[in-house]
Parts: sequence; structure tokens; C-alpha cells
Amino acid sequence: MTINEVRAKYLAFFERQKHVVIPSASLVPQNDPTTLFTGSGMQPLVPYLLGEPHPKGTRLVNSEKCFRAEDIEEIGDNRHTTFFEMLGNWSLGDYFKKEQLPWFFEFLTEEIVLDPEKLYVTAFIGDERNNVPKDTESAEIWKELFAKKGIEAKVVDIGSEADGYRKGMQGGRIFYYDAKKNWWSRAGVPENMPAGEPGGPDSEVFYDFDTPHDPKFGDECHPNCDCGRFLEIGNSVFMQYIKQADGSFALLPKQNVDFGGGLERITAASIGNPDVFATDAFRDIIELLSHFSGKAYDDSRFTRSFRIIGDHIRAATFMFADGVVPSNTERGYILRRLIRRAAIHADKLGTSDKDVEDSMLVRAALITIEKYKGAYPELGGEAAYQTIKNGIWEEEKQFAHTLARGMKEFEKIAAEGRISGENAALLVTTYGFPYELIAELAKERGLDTDEEAFKVEMRKHQDVSRAGSEQKFKGGLADTSEKTTRLHTAHHLLLKALQIVLGDHVKQRGSNITQERLRIDFSHSEKMTKDQLAEVERIVNEKIGEELPVIRSTLLREEAEKLGAQMEFGAKYPDTVSVYSVGPSGATIENPQFEKAFSIEFCGGPHVSNTEEIGKSGTFKIQKEEAVAAGIRRIKGVLE
Ligand code: ALA
Repeated sequence: MTINEVRAKYLAFFERQKHVVIPSASLVPQNDPTTLFTGSGMQPLVPYLLGEPHPKGTRLVNSEKCFRAEDIEEIGDNRHTTFFEMLGNWSLGDYFKKEQLPWFFEFLTEEIVLDPEKLYVTAFIGDERNNVPKDTESAEIWKELFAKKGIEAKVVDIGSEADGYRKGMQGGRIFYYDAKKNWWSRAGVPENMPAGEPGGPDSEVFYDFDTPHDPKFGDECHPNCDCGRFLEIGNSVFMQYIKQADGSFALLPKQNVDFGGGLERITAASIGNPDVFATDAFRDIIELLSHFSGKAYDDSRFTRSFRIIGDHIRAATFMFADGVVPSNTERGYILRRLIRRAAIHADKLGTSDKDVEDSMLVRAALITIEKYKGAYPELGGEAAYQTIKNGIWEEEKQFAHTLARGMKEFEKIAAEGRISGENAALLVTTYGFPYELIAELAKERGLDTDEEAFKVEMRKHQDVSRAGSEQKFKGGLADTSEKTTRLHTAHHLLLKALQIVLGDHVKQRGSNITQERLRIDFSHSEKMTKDQLAEVERIVNEKIGEELPVIRSTLLREEAEKLGAQMEFGAKYPDTVSVYSVGPSGATIENPQFEKAFSIEFCGGPHVSNTEEIGKSGTFKIQKEEAVAAGIRRIKGVLE
């Protein structure tokens, strides 16, 4: 089966069980400053798991775009990917174990037609300290389900993962494991959960590919063994607990089910191949690369490179479509790393790109668009096409340029006979070399490297750039004259107006304000239309006319983040921050009414005290709108 078929079957199956299909949330979390990317299906649904009613009801089904940055370095084996789709079905205080487990079993055995003999399952062994009982109910349900297929399912206690490597399969089909394996929350085991975090025991299903056990991982094989014989293909979390302030656990008002299943993995099981890169999610990309490089995917010298390119470019494609732009910080930095690593491995395969039309990475991205745009409309359409294509190519070009400069420097350093931590850090920070490339080049030439010293140097570097951005925090203001100050407040109105007209992906990427004009750089990939420009001007002037108070507050950074205060992309802020809010009328320092404010930004000022003040310099007009880099536009505006 193809991934599009498996996804469609899953959604249709749960629709028949009275679920409403909801769209995937963005990879960029909307109201969750705790993570850079959406990393599980439950993340965007947390408020509903905690009890808020969902507008679509109590039974939901979806396929969520997920990205786990911590997996970047792991990519290369047959089952890890940074980006993946998590199939999810949700009971928000509706059904529970005795519906969930039979449904998932039916889906796997009847819809995907997996052989039930190949399925092994786990359940939670219980946690006395936290008063959570052993999940015998799930084990009983599983026993019956297997019995109906004529399989006598033996239940065995394993305990920890280490116990698993010691005890092995013991002829079991249903296995009890501890909280490390069979408890799910965003923070992991119960002990690591902060107060207010929901979680619960879970039950996982594994597919047995029947490959030989690799004793490198442990003496005996068991479902949670890392040798690759068993692949986890679905996890039903019984989200019924919430951590209390005193560290104990209370029951949530309603019992929920949070099911998550890796689409690529279920598809891999459907074709009986443990390699997720053998599914059609990657197959076309791999064929393309193989065709143009003349290298075979099966050639063990190149398999890893094929996988890294396939994984990274698919992830990058989805990121561009969700408004991420390559940069040196946060999300943009991850995107940059993905493209650069892919470029290094494309080099290894021996493909060399001369222009955007023959770039292997761009072509791989276009294959991704074709495959996914039906399920994810944000990938379709001309604008997304241009953003993705140009975004990847620009980054490739820039990286090639950086590499060429860096190689010269590398040669000089190499002449010293070793690569010190300091020199490695210089190559990384000044020339944009990824450390793994330095390590690889050094190895090729038999030069020593010192990764520890490198890390120390990098930490020093980060401290210095943090201090630098506190300086920048004083704002991109040329001076603090009255005219500049008025334009500065207009700049805040402008950012908000751009977000209203163009969308929330608009983030400030730079600013510069003089007595004559303001300038803002912001993330957006298309040229703005005349109508959009006119609408932005209209909103800014309207807010000036509304005579809104402008209020400065000092807040904890976390509080300000929670309010959704706009930050300059990439700037690092101290623990206590100054925030400027504009509006609503009637807001005061004592009662700033943030929830009704028109705009809230992290900012050191200065500003006018009322937007009326701006009007004294004239009406706001946009003079120019242009591109400054891939995915970044610049506006110059005046008051006249
Ligand atoms: N939230 C669960 C997971 O991510 C389903 O595995």
C-alpha cells in the first residue's frame, strides 16, 4: 500500500466509527512556546484533552504533521525520520479502552490486512508510588482479540527495558513494561511531568519483521528491543491523569484516548519491509537520486546518504509550506541545517547542481509536493511551489558559496596538522561549516580533532552573541528624537497590520528607523499586491486615528511569551522583559488589558504615549515593498 492509501483508509475507518476528520495543525506550534515544532498529534489538542470542548465534538481523527529535531543526527537507519505523519484518533471524554483497542486491531488486520501473528502488544505494569494500577484491562482486551483470530496470547511481565534484554520473549504476545515504555506524556515518565500536565498509561502495538536479533543491543530480543526486528506502529494512550502541584496524580474530569500511529511505519508493515525508506514516501526521491548519481540505494556506502537526503528534503518542504525560512536561529536554523546536510550528502552521491532546474534537492522537493499536496493543500498552488523551490535553491547556492570560502580557510588550518576546538568553532560560526563535515574532512586527511574543546568554544560564542543581542534589544532606532519615536510606534502598528492582512507567519526579521522613515524586514515569500498594501496602510492609519494608549509593562519573559508578545526573530531576551502594548482605549499601566490590545511586542522603547501623537507627523504611507532574501520582504514607510 502507499502512504496516501493507508492514510485514507485510516481516516475513513474512523469516520465510520463516528469520528470527525480534522486538518493537521501547522508544524509551527500556534499557542505553545515550549517547543519549536509540533512533535506529536496531541500537542495541538492539549486544551481539549484538559477539558475544553472541541468545536467538532468528542470523536476526532486526523493525520498530524510532526517534526522531531532531536532525531536529526539519528537519521540514516531504516526507521527514524525527522518529519513524519502521526495518524491520530481522539476520544475527548467519549470512548475508552474497550472501543479503542478493538478498533485499532480491526484497522490493522482487516483494512491494512496485516497478519495478526505478526503483531505483539504491550501494556503498563503499574506504578505503586504514583498510585497507578497495572493495566490488566488492556491485557484482557488484547487476549480476547487475539483469541478471536485463533491465537492464544500469553501475557508476560517484563518490567524495564533492561529486564527485556535479560528475559526475552518468553513465548509472550502481550508484555507489561514500566513507565519508561508504557506511560505517555509530553514530558515523559510521571516524575518528569510538571504540574498541570496530562498523561497516562499506554498500550503499544509492534510489528514483527522476523529479522534476526542483533546481540549488539542486548542478549535477548523483546518487543522494545532496538535491533529493528520489532517496529512500533501505534500507541493508544489512555490520557486520564493530571499531575498535581504536590506531585501526586489526580484523575482528569474525563477519560480520553490519544492514539498516535506512525503512518510511514504502518505503510512499511503493509509491504512487509522494515525499511520506511522503501515505502513510496521516499521511493521516488531515491529513484531520482539514483538515476542522476549512478549510485545504488542498496550500496551500503551510500544508503545513509540517500536516506538523509530523502528525509531532510521532505521535512524542509513541509517547513517552507508552513512559513519557516532558513536563518541562524531556532526553527530557521533547523531548516538551514536540514538543507545543508542534504546538500553535503548530495555531493557525496556525486550530483552537482548548476541551476535551480537541475538541482537534485529542488527536484526531490517537487516530488514531495506532488505526493502530498492532495492531503496537505498548503503544499499545492503556485505560491507554495515558488517558496519551496526558490527557498531550497537559495539556501543551496548560499551554502555552496560558504563552503567554497570555508574550504580555503580549512586548508590553511589543516596545514597546522590538526583541527583545534577553536578553529573548528571558527569554521562553524564564521563559515557555516557543519561540525560533521569538519570531522569528516579531518578524518579523510588523518588530522586530529577535539570535539570537547569545540563544544566549549561554541558555548563561549553563544554567550557573546547573547550579550550582543541585548544591545540590539535597544531597538533598530537611529536616535530617540520625537520623529523617530513616532515612526517607532507606527512600526509596531505596521507589524500587526501585516499579520492581519498576510497571516500569522509574518514575523519581524529586522528593523531600522530614522527620523525620515521606518524599515521593517519580515518573513513572507510573495510580493504583496496593491490591495494588500492599501489595506495595511488603512489599518495603520485607522489605529492612529483611534487614539489608542501605548503602555509599557515589565513582565517575566515567560508571561510575555504566553501573551503572544511579538519578538524579533532570533533575538535572545533576558528573564525580565519590557513589553509595549497598543490599545485598547481605556488601557492603563495598572490595567493594561493585554487580551484586548491591538499589538503587543517585546520592546525597549521609546514610544509615544498615545497613537494620536503619530498623526502629528502625517499619514502613514508605504513607499516601497521589495524582497531582500528568499522568503523575506522589506517595507519602507513614512509619515507625510
Ligand atoms: N501521543 C502519543 C505519542 O506521541 C500517541 O506517541
